[in-house]
Amino acid sequence: MGDGAAGGAGVGSGSGDREWSLDELASAYAYPEAGPGGREPWLRANMVSTLDGAAQHEGLSLPISSATDRRIFGTLRGLADVVLVGAETVRQEGYRPARAREGFATLREAAGHGPAPAIAVVSASLDLDFSLPLFTSPLVPTLLLTGAAAAPDRVATVEKAGVQVVIAGDGMGVDPARAVRALAGLGHTRLLTEGGPRLLGQLMAAGVLDELCLTISPMLTAGDAQRIAGGPSVAVPKRFELVSLLEEAGFLFSRYRRT
Ligand SMILES: NC(=O)c1ccc[n+]([C@@H]2O[C@H](COP(=O)([O-])OP(=O)(O)OC[C@H]3O[C@@H](n4cnc5c(N)ncnc54)[C@H](OP(=O)(O)O)[C@@H]3O)[C@@H](O)[C@H]2O)c1
Repeated sequence: MGDGAAGGAGVGSGSGDREWSLDELASAYAYPEAGPGGREPWLRANMVSTLDGAAQHEGLSLPISSATDRRIFGTLRGLADVVLVGAETVRQEGYRPARAREGFATLREAAGHGPAPAIAVVSASLDLDFSLPLFTSPLVPTLLLTGAAAAPDRVATVEKAGVQVVIAGDGMGVDPARAVRALAGLGHTRLLTEGGPRLLGQLMAAGVLDELCLTISPMLTAGDAQRIAGGPSVAVPKRFELVSLLEEAGFLFSRYRRT
């Protein structure tokens, strides 16, 4: 494991040749403390990209990830109240319910949180397989975020499957800022999004993304894979600052937050 190296930022450093402990990772990735007025929602994204900007290989992020990347993925889930994810990522990656991680049990219990984060799927079509474990047997009930104009028969199917539908938009789609408010209204203030790129682009454009945890994978894939964020470009580039940088086996684990 290499040293973290990024002058100026509050950088965590590598820990010699041993694995980072869960405590070390949990402290490196802690959400901001609650302010005097209570905890404000904080939305972080966790994404992986190759050196040439691909966010997937053959439709999946696994081939460009690593064991430590997946450990950090687990850490970020362990710290979050809810994981916001686009329906296409759920379909393509075969999302399963978040599991309870032993290393986070005490921390979560002390904070009054459930054993695992809820997964909140964003969909306009509601074209998902509601017989999958993500919907039938999660530890914490999965949420479905959609717009008020979503097809009523589909909404009825979702509700019949026992999944809570959260309306967070006036039309077919979800409004990013409203989604954050709706989740906060349900008590979820430590928000994590795992993309995919189409959802993340909207969260960025709407200005609701507070932090980006970006893994830079030492791989090149060429091709026409999506970048980590898609959709129309923003009018003015949004500036983020580096908070920490860790390195292991050539993978860089960066953490940026908005300035
Ligand atoms: N590198 C990484 O870290 C990473 C992370 C995640 C995913 N990925 C990769 O990204 C790919 C999938 O990403 P993607 O960008 O194509 O799709 P996505 O963002 O995961 O999902 C897009 C879908 O989400 C729903 N959606 C998005 N915005 C919405 C809105 N405002 N209102 C309502 N519904 C909305 C729609 O679902 P409906 O069609 O159901 O209406 C839309 O088709 C996969 O290949 C996956 O492996 C990579």
